[in-house]
Amino acid sequence: MTKTALEDLAQCFEMLRPRIDAALAASFQPGEGCPAKLAEAIRYALLAPGKRLRPVLVLWAAEACGADADAAMPAACAVEMVHAYSLVHDDLPAMDDDDLRRGRPTCHKVFGEAMAVLTGDALLAMAFRTLGTAPWPPETVAACCAALAEAAGPEQLVGGQADDIEGPMAEANLAQLESIHHRKTGAMIDVSLRLGALVAGADAVRLEALRQYGRRLGLVFQITDDLLDVRGEEASLGKRVGKDSAAGKLTYPGLLGVEASLARAGQLVDEARAALAPLGDAAEQLAALAQFVLERNR
Ligand code: IPE
Ligand code: IPE
Ligand code: MG
Ligand code: MG
Ligand code: MG
Repeated sequence: MTKTALEDLAQCFEMLRPRIDAALAASFQPGEGCPAKLAEAIRYALLAPGKRLRPVLVLWAAEACGADADAAMPAACAVEMVHAYSLVHDDLPAMDDDDLRRGRPTCHKVFGEAMAVLTGDALLAMAFRTLGTAPWPPETVAACCAALAEAAGPEQLVGGQADDIEGPMAEANLAQLESIHHRKTGAMIDVSLRLGALVAGADAVRLEALRQYGRRLGLVFQITDDLLDVRGEEASLGKRVGKDSAAGKLTYPGLLGVEASLARAGQLVDEARAALAPLGDAAEQLAALAQFVLERNR
């Protein structure tokens, strides 16, 4: 891929972000009963300057399957809510014990641990309220709720996080590493694409193509995250670096080394792009995104 193509994609991404941020801000209207401090912590976690990759995946998958991006905006907000919750909890002292996220002090550093736990709880519930009240046919609402619950649940995100904090078993291997990464990170990337496709009423062939793409993109994303922990810079990343090896985490560079991790990621990018073939030109942006995710510095 040429440098210009990647720059064009970055520009499309930048143009979408304010729309997503506006929808996220509008999606949280705390009613009576929500304490001011809790509302502030929720806004702090949800509206902090993240990349918004998962919402973009929802919107581009919807477009690739022939829908208008706006129709999928509730799903874009819902996945970002689950993601924001997962980051707040991931940063807690009981988990990764981080003090910097999205260039700011972590939620528990500002609001205290108990409030951070509750902020995550609230964001998770808000995600399902957002899906449950979306203006879609009832069967689409139900399918989206079930898919998101599956991805966020004990076999996927939460299961991957549980294995991640337990640390590697004695004989750590690539299968174990990829299983953790598929679950803790890949599942939310995968479901973002799926929700966009479900809102668009995609057929089984498109759903399967996006699933194959998403499985690979999820791994590419976490390989890059692991590499950025080794080679990235705090200023652009907005989070601390060098923490994974200190914490004994099972990571790609830790297991395979930097060069082999890059090679694995490159191979997965090629496979991800190839998986999109059934969607034709409609998936051009998603195809370019795989390389973008590999080359990101934040
Ligand atoms: C960080 O995700 C957590 C992982 C799954 C590796 P992102 O890198 O997408 O974080 P934000 O949303 O941009 O802050
Ligand atoms: C986090 O993985 C995955 C989830 C939040 C579910 P990491 O622990 O590697 O993410 P960062 O590096 O803290 O963003
Ligand atoms: Mg973690
Ligand atoms: Mg972490
Ligand atoms: Mg990480």
